[in-house]
Amino acid sequence: MFVKYSLTALLVAAPFIEGYLFSQLIVDDKDVGEPFEYMRPNDDIANPTLARPLVAPDALSSTDLRCGKGGDKAAPDSKVFSVGATHRIGARLHDNQTFSNIGPVLIYMSRAPNDDVRSYDGSGDWFKIWHQGICIGGPRINENWCNFNLDTADFRIPETIPAGQYLVRFEQIALQNANKGNAEFNVACMQLNISSLNEEQPTPLAKIPGIYKADEAGLNYDALSSLLAQYDLPGPPSWEPQQDKNAAPDAPSVPWNNKIKRWTA
Ligand SMILES: *[C@@H]1O[C@H](CO)[C@@H](O)[C@H](O)[C@H]1NC(C)=O
Ligand SMILES: *[C@@H]1O[C@H](CO)[C@@H](O)[C@H](O)[C@H]1NC(C)=O
Repeated sequence: MFVKYSLTALLVAAPFIEGYLFSQLIVDDKDVGEPFEYMRPNDDIANPTLARPLVAPDALSSTDLRCGKGGDKAAPDSKVFSVGATHRIGARLHDNQTFSNIGPVLIYMSRAPNDDVRSYDGSGDWFKIWHQGICIGGPRINENWCNFNLDTADFRIPETIPAGQYLVRFEQIALQNANKGNAEFNVACMQLNISSLNEEQPTPLAKIPGIYKADEAGLNYDALSSLLAQYDLPGPPSWEPQQDKNAAPDAPSVPWNNKIKRWTA
């Protein structure tokens, strides 16, 4: 009886465990620590998706959207990495995974209350720090997506970020089934303690869940039949620090044909 149940569960569950999992901290292009030392592990790689009821009935309103399923439980066991503003921070996928499904990469940050990120559930304010969609040509060709077949995502910490402890949320939204309402949110969070000499308030701020709407174009993109010339990056625009002379976290990677929509939440 038990065996039969397990087998059934496995057969049902297996197709859903196919997402990506970020595990390795990278600082200025060098690996730091072991996989999951500074990134909170998820329960498994069954990340929230829009239309997979066994994983999450409603991914966009689930707290799993913050750091992945089980991302909170792991928080006290994950370390906090101390780093100064202006360094480049990246995350690499686990076990030699690469982004083999088309879709954008987005990175968000949230400062932990009392600067205690190890006990922070991500319920506070978030801002987007970086995002990337299509780098060249039209959307229909896999290789035109900036991150296609890569295994890392990274960004530069702005010079003027307020010092403190932060959750940094890395996300790739896989769009291979987005035309069936089935965008897949592959998310994981890193714990950073950032030192900085300047303070500028990041904007715009948003809650997670709450950053995405089910009907936004960037989550319903039809890779096979879309005739759109542009891809609308989902969620809010990135914070653009005004007092950081070197600030251009999006500039090298967000090209002319990514339409950055206005944030209207
Ligand atoms: C990842 O790639 C390295 C280098 O090619 C290899 O040694 C290692 O076994 C691979 N790991 C997995 C989990 O496939
Ligand atoms: C965070 O960074 C500050 C400034 O570098 C340092 O004084 C503090 O000890 C760090 N905290 C932790 C928990 O690493």
